[in-house]
Amino acid sequence: MSRRTFLKQAVAGSTGIALLGCKSDGISPTPASGGAFPRIISTWQHGLAANDAAWKTLQSGGSGLDAVEAGVRVPEADPEVRSVGYGGYPDREGIVTLDACIMDAQSRCGSVAFLRDIKHPISVARLVMEKTPHIMLCGDGALEFALEQGFERENLLTEASRLDWEKWKETSEYRPVINIENHDTISMLLIDGQQNLYAACTTSGAAWKMHGRIGDSPIIGAGLFLDNEVGAAAATGLGEAVIRTAGSAMIVEAMRHGMSPDEACRMVVERISNLHKNDPDWENLQVGFIALNKRGVYGSYSLRPGFDFAVTDKTTPSKMVKAPYALG
Ligand code: GLY
Repeated sequence: MSRRTFLKQAVAGSTGIALLGCKSDGISPTPASGGAFPRIISTWQHGLAANDAAWKTLQSGGSGLDAVEAGVRVPEADPEVRSVGYGGYPDREGIVTLDACIMDAQSRCGSVAFLRDIKHPISVARLVMEKTPHIMLCGDGALEFALEQGFERENLLTEASRLDWEKWKETSEYRPVINIENHDTISMLLIDGQQNLYAACTTSGAAWKMHGRIGDSPIIGAGLFLDNEVGAAAATGLGEAVIRTAGSAMIVEAMRHGMSPDEACRMVVERISNLHKNDPDWENLQVGFIALNKRGVYGSYSLRPGFDFAVTDKTTPSKMVKAPYALG
């Protein structure tokens, strides 16, 4: 497809979004970001502490890869964050299973899916990237690999999450539970001082999911994607909708063909909206994306209000930015 045809189609896609309307809680959508590097952006409120850890790692001479790993390890270890790592909500069987992936400026990537009993799946994902000829390990194989690498087996189900699961079992009604407590997957995108990009994401996935369910977060191209020539993108929200559209890869590709990070995020949210608007559970669908281009400009977009993300760079203290959204 020529660049002209691509842009024409992209504009046609944006028209759909314009019809849906674009709202941002009165806060300017991300355009005002301007370019800056180093810069780190991470999904949700738990992104603030994650960004702080990543920033400190960069400042103390760590690589971008070290920084994104150190950053997302913070919510992974925090039992108060109920959608990531230790303390995350379990599946229907009461088992906490984790998905994570990591990607660097050379397009190296590693991923673990349906991993249990390991507090820091992101670190296992990094070792899959660095120490195996593979990109993705899942389930028992991922656990076996983690144990071989010296990770400890731990119970990730906290008492608080166990009690919530017991309560859920009273009705056992399965609906995707996303975005109801203002947090979900932690996805982090980082551009370093040399304009190289790094990215990581990690989650315990949808609460009360079927045992064995894998979401978008460990799938390179869906929950996260990076091309060091162009930029990076990552997702939060209902993983099935993100996988169906190869959301993060599409955003990076749209940026390659000239879209801003904001426009690219909007285009993919519009696709998801068009694909799902007749679904029975449409009212509960939420997806959100963040993107960061090679100049350090960030953007975002979500289907519904409520999605925000943390931004850290040297010109501003860390701050939360509300994503613009399609539906009020
Ligand atoms: N986005 C997280 C999940 O659906 O698992």
